[in-house]
Amino acid sequence: MGRHNVGVIVLAATVLWMSSIWPCTKADWWQLGFPTTLPSLQNLSPAAHKERCMKTEFFVDKQKELCTKYDKILPIIGNGAKLAIDECQNQFAYNRWNCTIFPDKNNTFGNVATIQSREAAYINAISAASVAYAITRACTKGDLSEWCSCDNKIRQKKTTKWKWGGCSDDIRYGEKFSKEFLDAMEDPNTALGLMNLHNNEAGRRAVRSRMQRTCKCHGVSGSCSMQICWRRLPPLKKVAEGLYKRYEGASHVKFVERRRKKLKVVSPDFKKPNRTDLVYLEPSPAYCEKNDTLNILGTRGRLCNFGSEGIDGCSLLCCGRGYQTRVKDVEEKCNCQFVWCCKVVCNTCRSRKEEHVCN
Ligand SMILES: *[C@@H]1O[C@H](CO)[C@@H](O)[C@H](O)[C@H]1NC(C)=O
Ligand SMILES: *[C@@H]1O[C@H](CO)[C@@H](O)[C@H](O)[C@H]1NC(C)=O
Ligand SMILES: *[C@@H]1O[C@H](CO)[C@@H](O)[C@H](O)[C@H]1NC(C)=O
Ligand SMILES: *[C@@H]1O[C@H](CO)[C@@H](O)[C@H](O)[C@H]1NC(C)=O
Repeated sequence: MGRHNVGVIVLAATVLWMSSIWPCTKADWWQLGFPTTLPSLQNLSPAAHKERCMKTEFFVDKQKELCTKYDKILPIIGNGAKLAIDECQNQFAYNRWNCTIFPDKNNTFGNVATIQSREAAYINAISAASVAYAITRACTKGDLSEWCSCDNKIRQKKTTKWKWGGCSDDIRYGEKFSKEFLDAMEDPNTALGLMNLHNNEAGRRAVRSRMQRTCKCHGVSGSCSMQICWRRLPPLKKVAEGLYKRYEGASHVKFVERRRKKLKVVSPDFKKPNRTDLVYLEPSPAYCEKNDTLNILGTRGRLCNFGSEGIDGCSLLCCGRGYQTRVKDVEEKCNCQFVWCCKVVCNTCRSRKEEHVCN
């Protein structure tokens, strides 16, 4: 083999290696949360972190700047992306669109997310919420100790029963980062930009409005004469559920250009959306049939909920095509007993379970 060929092979090997280290060259930021990417963001040296920020092609300049300002922010943003995907998939597990992701594509949620639909609205809102959540939690844990920690600005309200103390989660810091980082991708002069900005804000408000006060008793021998309280993040699942309600009641809006560019409800008969509502510009596809151009999987083969009249029920989820019922014999451990000493002995119980699968 000549020198020339060796060079080509080394080059090819380098390109292969680069594309496995930098899977994000043709991608969107949600990829930072993939199991294939997230571990590679942990424990980077400050120099490597900075380089990674600059080389992440899907970051806009403002995002690169923010990313390099911190030396440990990438895995936290990645965690935010992962939380967003997980919560979305939980909320939509029994919908026609089930928040499928396509790890091999450059757009994580497939081309269907390029439709400016209420599903796209949900993705943006839960993402902005999840990034605010992940940053806030990192502040409390001390993972970003140079920049944030507990919320010390919380008002010193004093009552006879309780006072602020302990470590309150600094949701304001998390929100501020989420806003700077995610809103940087949007152009407020376009319809889509305004839609995304609105839904990002609604997502962040869904976290803020659910902050919880937690208290601990103090006082002579557990008398609880005084309580120390701090503010805590809500479970993210509660935020995802709240946003799902907003998704169901999302407002259909259109772009208007008067003195100022803005979004207005399509019909004056509908309620004007406030800042906690989700808004969308385009109606959703039916999601019933497979469409490879849009990366819609269709609902054939999906499990449906027999007896439900809702979207998870066999009638709606299967789009009127009907369903098949499969009877499965399942074996489970049962009647387990502890036997001295030291084992647990179980019987095997057999039962039949029915499963309903869309045609
Ligand atoms: C994603 O890939 C498609 C083709 O594979 C390309 O047309 C599109 O511009 C890419 N999108 C981004 C944001 O890079
Ligand atoms: C915004 O509108 C929703 C209904 O879409 C309502 O439940 C909520 O209370 C409103 N929020 C504010 C701050 O007015
Ligand atoms: C997929 O959707 C696109 C856009 O709505 C449409 O033009 C196309 O005909 C659809 N393809 C199939 C196979 O249904
Ligand atoms: C979504 O539905 C498809 C079938 O349409 C299934 O293959 C996939 O596992 C589901 N995804 C999730 C996250 O439930």
